[in-house]
Amino acid sequence: MAAEIRSVADLPVEGRRVFVRVDFNVPLDGGTITDDTRIRAALPTLRKLVEAGGRLVVASHLGRPKGSVKPELSLEPAGTRLAELLDTEVVLADDCVGDGPRKVVGDLRDGQVALLENLRFHAEEEKNDETFAKELAKLCDVYVSDAFGAAHRAHASVSALPKLIAERAAGSLLLGELKALDRIREQPPKPYFAVLGGAKVSDKINILETLLSQVDALFIGGAMANTFLAAQGLSLGKSRVESDKLPLARSVLDKAKQAGVDVLLPVDVRVGAGLEASDAQTVAVSEVPGDAMALDIGPETVARFAERLKSGAAVFWNGPMGLFENETFAGGTLGVAEAIAACSGFSVVGGGDSVAAVQQAGLGARFDHVSTGGGASLEYLEGRKLPGVEALRS
Ligand code: 3PG
Repeated sequence: MAAEIRSVADLPVEGRRVFVRVDFNVPLDGGTITDDTRIRAALPTLRKLVEAGGRLVVASHLGRPKGSVKPELSLEPAGTRLAELLDTEVVLADDCVGDGPRKVVGDLRDGQVALLENLRFHAEEEKNDETFAKELAKLCDVYVSDAFGAAHRAHASVSALPKLIAERAAGSLLLGELKALDRIREQPPKPYFAVLGGAKVSDKINILETLLSQVDALFIGGAMANTFLAAQGLSLGKSRVESDKLPLARSVLDKAKQAGVDVLLPVDVRVGAGLEASDAQTVAVSEVPGDAMALDIGPETVARFAERLKSGAAVFWNGPMGLFENETFAGGTLGVAEAIAACSGFSVVGGGDSVAAVQQAGLGARFDHVSTGGGASLEYLEGRKLPGVEALRS
């Protein structure tokens, strides 16, 4: 699939203005970037383009400003970080279209880098607006996308713009993502296991249905596991349960049974009084107190998951096993991260929180692929065409 898309390595860029769509949608705490993985992931492509004498017009979205200028969502901190990592000056334009950016881009010399301001400060970006895309097109001669994390969005800089630029290519991050995900999307090595977590069954229903025809076992944790446990008749106290999704959970369990897919649900959970709790207790899933919330999978569950994961020839993981951001309830997610890292099969993790857990535990290098895309990796594995990938085809 990736073969039909031109690689950045084959794109002549010397002296040309290169629009590079990246995904610098990084977590911020005030003005400080708390995880720069996505910026680092784009460096190989950016360095290659700088070395080849391109005039780089780097562009990204950040957060969801919904078409208005939100100073706290400026790309300035990303620009500063990029300049440090590239060890070169990065000029920040005050907007992404109009006279300001045109002047900044016009002043670029070969090998120099400009970063446009947040594309989503304009509502037209998310509307895939053709006129807005034409304004962006005025800033470049060639187009490169390394924004895998945004490739599932049919937005102007991802979809309409590349179609307007005859010479377009994918960067090495994007091509690497497709190559890694293709290994489990097409003919996954068997046994193939998927570990899914996160808050809602409804967010994961498409991928659950797809995976049922592919995997040998499905491991479910996080708040979505509560809905599956409740669907089996268990009482979970004050735990988050999507009551309207109980029939859906039952149907997934029935289909798994018919397909011969083992579904591993928690056998014990860590419970607390509420989301801010700093005290936790471990109980069997059948014994959740009426006034408590299940906020993480328990140690017995981690041990069972780990034992089974050992034999995986391929493992895909998306979504935390509990309320990972509260360290009292991070143990299940970290335990699963460790278990997948220890498995000798091909391991892939995608999704903000699960990737953050892997990085926080220092396990990134022990995964075969750490995806920079959460929603994008799920949609790609569901077999859907990603607008940001399709638009790159010649
Ligand atoms: C992501 O973080 O998944 C991507 O940057 C896409 O962001 P979005 O979900 O706000 O479109």
